[in-house]
Amino acid sequence: MAERLDKILSSQGTATRREAQRLVRAGQVTVDGAVCRDPSFKAEPEQCEITVQGRPLRYRRHLYVMMNKPAGLLCVSRDPKAETVIDLLPPDLRRQGLFPAGRLDKDTVGLVIITDDGDFAHRMLAPKKEIVKRYHALIDGPVGEREIQAFAAGTSLEDGTLCRPASLRILEEAEHPLVEVAVTEGRYHQVKRMFVSVGRRVLRLKRISIGKLVLDPCLEEGECREMGPGECSAVFEQTVFL
Ligand code: URA
Repeated sequence: MAERLDKILSSQGTATRREAQRLVRAGQVTVDGAVCRDPSFKAEPEQCEITVQGRPLRYRRHLYVMMNKPAGLLCVSRDPKAETVIDLLPPDLRRQGLFPAGRLDKDTVGLVIITDDGDFAHRMLAPKKEIVKRYHALIDGPVGEREIQAFAAGTSLEDGTLCRPASLRILEEAEHPLVEVAVTEGRYHQVKRMFVSVGRRVLRLKRISIGKLVLDPCLEEGECREMGPGECSAVFEQTVFL
């Protein structure tokens, strides 16, 4: 779809609308090899070649960012007082309209997707899609067959909410065992409350995958990178539950 040149530039986070207009008027923008000084000029961003100050514009209708969220940050678009996952984005991954698709608690770490694609987020979060989200959790006491069976049957939370069946696997037996939990819903404090319902407490929680999209092990906590198209579709691919 053809769009105004100033709108195309500002949509990519390269400049504000005003700056984009100034750049265009100053002759610093070319469209298919020719300088264009008219900010209202309509171009097909996916079909033409645009340069800004001599550099090609890599047009992306939407941006999808994988972040390894650190503890201490809020998983919201903005907050007047506290730091959010959006504040952590480097300049080249910033643009208007970005938000975290789904929330992790302030103290939860791991995989978060940040995007400006509302449809993508809506599809990913729709309960009927039953996308499997996997977590690693450190637990405050022994976990065994009783807890595995309770999760498989669907735990009942403190307010009476019945959870869908979840899988629980013990990864490391210890005083504070490390377990993997797979759930297909995303209620408030879901995993922590599921453990409370079986008399345990989560000491540390990390999300490691959404659908078939696995957190890139090269990303340290606090780091992020753009996702490729294959990674975006992996979110919607079914995984084996266990
Ligand atoms: N479950 C929780 O309890 N917290 C999270 O952040 C995610 C899932």
